Amino acid sequence: MKEALLEKLRCPRCREPLCVWNATEEDGGEIVEGTLACHACGGTFPVHSTIPILLVPGRRAVDEFAATLGREAQKVGFSKAVRSLADGTVEYPATRTFEPAVTAAEVREGRYRASESFWETFSRNRLVQQQQNALTAHLDAMEEMWLRAEVNFADTVLDVGTGWGGALVPLVERAPQDAMIFGFDTAFLNLRVAQGQIERAQHENVVFVVGDCLNPPFRERLFDAVVSWFGIGRIPGFVNCLRGILGVLGPGRAFSCAWTPLVNDLDGLASQADLIGMAERLEIPTRPDETAGFVEAIGFEEVELSTVGPIFVLSGRAPIPQGSLIPPSGS
Ligand SMILES: C[S@@+](CC[C@H](N)C(=O)[O-])C[C@H]1O[C@@H](n2cnc3c(N)ncnc32)[C@H](O)[C@@H]1O
Repeated sequence: MKEALLEKLRCPRCREPLCVWNATEEDGGEIVEGTLACHACGGTFPVHSTIPILLVPGRRAVDEFAATLGREAQKVGFSKAVRSLADGTVEYPATRTFEPAVTAAEVREGRYRASESFWETFSRNRLVQQQQNALTAHLDAMEEMWLRAEVNFADTVLDVGTGWGGALVPLVERAPQDAMIFGFDTAFLNLRVAQGQIERAQHENVVFVVGDCLNPPFRERLFDAVVSWFGIGRIPGFVNCLRGILGVLGPGRAFSCAWTPLVNDLDGLASQADLIGMAERLEIPTRPDETAGFVEAIGFEEVELSTVGPIFVLSGRAPIPQGSLIPPSGS
């Protein structure tokens, strides 16, 4: 990360500005490995492979939901794992206070995932091919999402739940050339894959940040547009996620997300009652038609929910405080 990025970031613990504590590896003016610190609360946060890891202490930089479900499923099978999450026997999110957010092994693995050889192997892999086919089939929904968030007028765009970056590369190509795009996810290894894709496509206007969208570690009102492709809507803590986004979205600016309901996608893999129970406990919407009401209640305006094929597209605009002029975007 470039040091200039610091003024856009905030401490995930106390929301005060961060500074560079040390930079153990630098490359062309970028911190590759190092530590950021918050003078206000004393928190320290690692930077690995140029990516700042801005999670509160105790949180691991992984896709916690998938990891928990996967771990339990290995032990007791998928349907029982769903039931354990539904009845609260298994804790989400798990806090493991003594583990580092990113282990040394994950940093090494991340280098591989971002590398050319990973892509040589995996671009031929069926999984990636399937993902690509699915994206092509869903291009209309993606277009609708970008349109509603007005990404073509944005200087600073946040992509929530970037994952492997399937929707990030097309987003970068759709947004203005000089826009600054933020890839954002709790999972370090996912962002390393996305980083590899962006490097291969030779885009230089994307920065990656590990953090939690329930508590986004960014300056207030930083973003001109927020989008999320199969992130918001499937990330646990729907309402708090939207509250977090409202805090970092500029006045009068829009967010939009697209998703299919998790309970439908997992249909048949566990009982419907357990799937709904799990989603409700984790606050993942089971009824998309109810989401617009939640979004309005949080304070968004011009809330719209529509469907493009099987995909739900939800959007809303941050209110403009009465009597104020809209500040210049990204300022
Ligand atoms: C289905 S993937 C998104 C796919 C991706 N947008 C794409 O285009 O390929 C969902 C992502 O949300 C991330 N995620 C889960 N909880 C999150 C949170 N609280 N904040 C940010 N990202 C989160 C997961 O790690 C995962 O990578």
